[in-house]
Amino acid sequence: MTTGSYIGISTMKPCCRIISGFSPIKFTDSTIMGILSRSCYHSSIHSHRYYKCSNNTKIVGYIHDVTSLNRRDFSVIDSNWAQSRNFSTSFCVNIGSVRPRVVSLIPNVASDFRNESTSVDSNVNDKSFENIYIQSGLIAKNPLVFEGIETDQGKLEEVPDGSNVNLDDNLNDLSENKAERELSEIEKEAWKLLRGAVVTYCGNPVGTVAANDSAEKQPLNYDQVFIRDFVPSALAFLLNGEEDIVKNFLLHTLQLQSWEKTVDCYSPGQGLMPASFKVRTVPLDGSNDAFEEVSDPDFGESAIGRVAPVDSGLWWIILLRAYGKLTGDYSLQERVDVQTGIRLILKLCLTDGFDMFPSLLVTDGSCMIDRRMGIHGHPLEIQTLFYSALRCSREMLIVNDTTRNLVAAVSNRLSALSFHMREYYWVDMKKINEIYRYKTEEYSTDAVNKFNIYPEQIPSWLVDWISEEGGYFIGNLQPAHMDFRFFTLGNLWAIVSSLGTTRQNEGILNLIDAKWDDIIGQMPLKICYPALEGEEWRIITGCDPKNTPWSYHNGGSWPTLLWQFTLACIKMGRSDLAQKAVDLAEKRLCIDKWPEYYDTRNGKFIGKQSRLTQTWTIAGFLTSKMLLKNPEKASLLFWEEDFEILHNCVCMLNKTGGGSSSRRKCSRFAARSKVLV
Ligand code: GLC
Repeated sequence: MTTGSYIGISTMKPCCRIISGFSPIKFTDSTIMGILSRSCYHSSIHSHRYYKCSNNTKIVGYIHDVTSLNRRDFSVIDSNWAQSRNFSTSFCVNIGSVRPRVVSLIPNVASDFRNESTSVDSNVNDKSFENIYIQSGLIAKNPLVFEGIETDQGKLEEVPDGSNVNLDDNLNDLSENKAERELSEIEKEAWKLLRGAVVTYCGNPVGTVAANDSAEKQPLNYDQVFIRDFVPSALAFLLNGEEDIVKNFLLHTLQLQSWEKTVDCYSPGQGLMPASFKVRTVPLDGSNDAFEEVSDPDFGESAIGRVAPVDSGLWWIILLRAYGKLTGDYSLQERVDVQTGIRLILKLCLTDGFDMFPSLLVTDGSCMIDRRMGIHGHPLEIQTLFYSALRCSREMLIVNDTTRNLVAAVSNRLSALSFHMREYYWVDMKKINEIYRYKTEEYSTDAVNKFNIYPEQIPSWLVDWISEEGGYFIGNLQPAHMDFRFFTLGNLWAIVSSLGTTRQNEGILNLIDAKWDDIIGQMPLKICYPALEGEEWRIITGCDPKNTPWSYHNGGSWPTLLWQFTLACIKMGRSDLAQKAVDLAEKRLCIDKWPEYYDTRNGKFIGKQSRLTQTWTIAGFLTSKMLLKNPEKASLLFWEEDFEILHNCVCMLNKTGGGSSSRRKCSRFAARSKVLV
């Protein structure tokens, strides 16, 4: 049986809860005491300690009793206390104004439900948030005990009842700016806006809102913290030496992942990360002077078009690795709950389906382009993020008996995916000429035109557009269909992750350089090229008035893509290109009030329905500036070619006899010399 419950109440400051599609459960002091005593009753093994402070802020308490440590499944042990749905309430600790240097929460026994490891870290140097928020809730087999406060002498002192301890000072760290000397006025303005976008939960920073556009009457979901949008914010903070917000975000979203979600009568898979979450302050128990904070995730059940955000989990893994690399704090990724989070995401991605390819099969709009744009199937963006997340996971997964098979599956998938993408998604002059002369209707395992592509499909714009120099990965590949549009994010991420070979990666930047006016234009960077027009626009977008030609997702220009361009350029030794693009953006972004996107063929106008003060525009700009200033830090965020992946790939091809060049020698040398490099 899995049992567990959490409470969180404060009468003055809001407390914290995570909700998911059901009525919030209301607690009062007496119910808490009731729950506590019942919890103790149900828990014969573990003791519970309940902390109550005097002064205005009344309650700091928790109960936690998880006998089966499956963090996906936390139920209240007594159905009288809640509806039959599982629920989890994390609690907020806010007990006054004296700030301890460290508050230590120590699990009685920390235990991994998979391997009994004790990597749940109760490091006294950890900031308070994750100790309280996650460790108390999800991983410790036994309740956490509020031990005391570490004094300046390093001694743990018992917190006396009624003393004031204020744990919500992390925000102050965010304004103690470490590298904000020597900044241009524009950068200073950007930092101010980025800090203004920070969202707190229980007094701790956990993310940034998508946009802070005061003029906009309809916030829609732009007042939420989007997983993908937070990545550049996170990098800006990390590069500026501010790690708490990122750690909090990773742990907060991890908790959301564990949540049960439903769309009408259907529950999507466990492991899914939400597209976004919103922190709301709601009155507690109908009272006028007591509030609690709830964190409300959206897994696509409210999103326009109801699409599941496939990219969220992939970004989460990528950010987790970046956090370790940039802070040197690897203990976060080693934590049991975090390892479980990685595994759940991978499980979702690696589950066998009907697919014949190593690429991920997804619906339209399941990534940055989150509405219908004809990218269902195997879109490049998802494949490159998938590849990156697999590489991150291979670095971060702790290998033990439980994970051994998973790690092997990750390695195999990396090899198969890199071969697939390099071989079938790449186009340049030579390849297009080959396609132009393809024979069709081939039936055999040795077919050259494996996907039965009819040459007539080569669009006329491409014939003129493709340059002698360079090439790119196409947007999508399906039977009898190649989507020849150039999608910027996927191509940049192919470079960053080394999904492409060195030659291919250089080729992408050569193409961008050669087609500067089309891809960079007056505002970097075009999300895809070219736009869908006329009948194609009507059928493919479903007549979407926001996605008209050269606007929004349909060929609009998105300044947030600047940081990924910068990273790719630094990796390939082309910082000059990035600098040129950043200079261009810097001239306009601040004057234009940091728009979400620009319209027209070369990004001349601020987007028709573009939000202003869009956070990932601001953060993307700041991150680009910092990456250019610190290329050595940038190098922690990209990958070089991994010959083990290639080696496996050649061996797999040999075993199956597949590929156009089967029966090659299974050796590193063979891998290097194969077409792939
Ligand atoms: C739009 C974008 C999406 C982004 C969201 C919030 O829907 O398409 O990628 O996450 O806005 O900024």
